[in-house]
Amino acid sequence: MVQFTLPKNSKITEGKTWPRPVGARSQREYRIYRWNPEDGRNPRVDTYYVDTGDCGPMVLDALIWIKNNVDATLTFRRSCREGICGSCSMNIDGTNTLACTKAMSDIGGPIRIYPLPHLPVVKDLVPDLTNFYAQHASIQPWLQTVSPTPQKEWKQSHEDRQKLDGLYECILCACCSTACPSYWWNSERFLGPAALLQAHRFIMDSRDEATGQRLDNLEDPFRLYRCHTIMNCTKACPKHLNPAKAIAEIKRMLVERQV
Ligand code: SF4
Ligand code: SF4
Ligand code: FES
Repeated sequence: MVQFTLPKNSKITEGKTWPRPVGARSQREYRIYRWNPEDGRNPRVDTYYVDTGDCGPMVLDALIWIKNNVDATLTFRRSCREGICGSCSMNIDGTNTLACTKAMSDIGGPIRIYPLPHLPVVKDLVPDLTNFYAQHASIQPWLQTVSPTPQKEWKQSHEDRQKLDGLYECILCACCSTACPSYWWNSERFLGPAALLQAHRFIMDSRDEATGQRLDNLEDPFRLYRCHTIMNCTKACPKHLNPAKAIAEIKRMLVERQV
């Protein structure tokens, strides 16, 4: 029978409200999703108060402040703190974005933080990206060549190099794929905007000699054509890339090669 409500054990319950920082002149309220697979309890939303006078300006600074000063068990990923590694992607104030480049001053009221949507949760704000990375690997994200290897390097003209602009900058944060309704419902079979943008990056690379095989691999009703051009992906990308355009380009190339 079709089930229309969430299973009982996934319903979010009232969490703990942690003490306010003593002597803080200015504070921000954070409401953060918590779930620990080991304690057998339902997910909950805990409330924390951050001393903004003792903390950097970004949401990631606040998470680190909470972990260092209030609750060491709060779990999240981060590395570079400058929008390069893609580790700190999460849903902040209803939008998928990077915690390290999201200023808390851009958000009004309590700051609500959840893991990236529609992925299994490992713990707290850490989603399971196993399938996401497997899909990235499936597009074979490396240069493939049949020509003899040149003595020094694979050369590329300035103009051809420019064709990779807007593609090579992807940091695989998964903000786009987890904002895509088609990906929510078909993540096992639809590659999603991140993997498809990466596929386009190698299709467009003048040094790559596997364009035909790459297009063959994408010509599939699910892997590519589950994209219905809803554009959520482009809106979500914190690096201001345009995965929807990349997907449209792949579709165009598939049509053109049939003519
Ligand atoms: S344009 Fe395609 S990939 Fe992007 S959100 Fe829409 S359906 Fe998903
Ligand atoms: S296209 Fe943008 S949102 Fe998607 S994985 Fe790459 S950087 Fe992240
Ligand atoms: S910590 Fe690396 S992108 Fe945010």
